[in-house]
Amino acid sequence: MTQPRIIENPAELEALAGGCFVPTMGGLHDGHLSLIREAARRQGPVVTSIFVNPTQFAPDEDFDAYPRPLDRDVRLAGEAGTDVVYFPSESCLYPEGRAASKTTAAGLSVPGVAKHPQLEDAGRPHFFGGVCLVVTRLLEQIRPSATVFGEKDWQQLQVIRAMVAGDAKFDGIEVIAGPIVRESDGLAMSSRNAYIPPAHRPRARGLSLALDAAENATTPEEAETLMRSTLETHRLEVEYAVIRDSESLMPVTDLSRPTRAIITATLDFEVGSVRLLDNRAMPLVG
Ligand code: PAF
Repeated sequence: MTQPRIIENPAELEALAGGCFVPTMGGLHDGHLSLIREAARRQGPVVTSIFVNPTQFAPDEDFDAYPRPLDRDVRLAGEAGTDVVYFPSESCLYPEGRAASKTTAAGLSVPGVAKHPQLEDAGRPHFFGGVCLVVTRLLEQIRPSATVFGEKDWQQLQVIRAMVAGDAKFDGIEVIAGPIVRESDGLAMSSRNAYIPPAHRPRARGLSLALDAAENATTPEEAETLMRSTLETHRLEVEYAVIRDSESLMPVTDLSRPTRAIITATLDFEVGSVRLLDNRAMPLVG
C-alpha cells in the first residue's frame, strides 16, 4: 500500500477530474472507510477531502474540539483505497473570508428538502447552508464523475442529491449512497461517538433500539410513539423521531412510497452532551 498523495493547492487537482470523490471532515471511522472502498470500486482516481467546515457549525458547537487526527486519517484513507487526500486550507475554499462566506451560504439556493421545520433545520438552521456551500466549492474544484455520501446523515444525502440534480453545473456527477456502518452494540458510527463517556454508552443504544421498536408498528403515528418512548427510556432527549417519505422527507400520506424512520436525540452527561443521528428504511404495512 502506498501512502496517498496530499494536495493542498486546488490547482493540483486538475489532473484528477472525472474520479470519485468522498468528502469528509476527518476523524475517519469504518463508516467513512466503507465510502472510500465504494469509491475505489469505481473507475478513476479516488479523492478524499478532509476539511472541518466552519460554515456548518454554529458558534456554540464543537468546531474547535472536532477531532483532527490528520496522520491517522491519511493512513486509513490510503488503506481504504484513496489515491489523493485533498486537505485544503480555509482560504482555498473561502477566499472571501469566513464571515463573508456565511453571507454567500445564506444566499445559496439550498434545496427545499433542507427546510423541514421539524428536522435538522429546527435545531441547526445554519447547517445545510454551510454544507451546500462547502460541497459546491469542493465539487467545483475536484470535478468528479461521482461522489459518495453516507446514509447515516439521511437528510444531508437527500439535500445533496437534490442540489446536484437541480443545478446544471453539476451535470455528469453521480451521487452514490453508502449504507450506515454500526458499532457492535448497534450505534451508527460517527466521529462524535468518541465524546460518549463509557459509563453512558449503553444509553446510546437507545437509537437503534427505537428503530427496532418501530418495526412492530403498522402506522406512522404508532411507530413515532414507539420510537419516542424507547428513546426516553434510555434518557435521551428527543429532537425528532419521525416517519417520513424517504425522498421528500414530507410527512407520510402514501404508504406505497418508500418511507424512512429518522431520529435525532441528545445524550446529556455530567460535563457535556452528544447529538446522535440514526435512520432506517421503515416500510409500514398498515
Ligand atoms: O457529512 C460530513 O462529514 C460533512 O457534512 C461534509 C459532507 C463532509 C461537508 O462538510
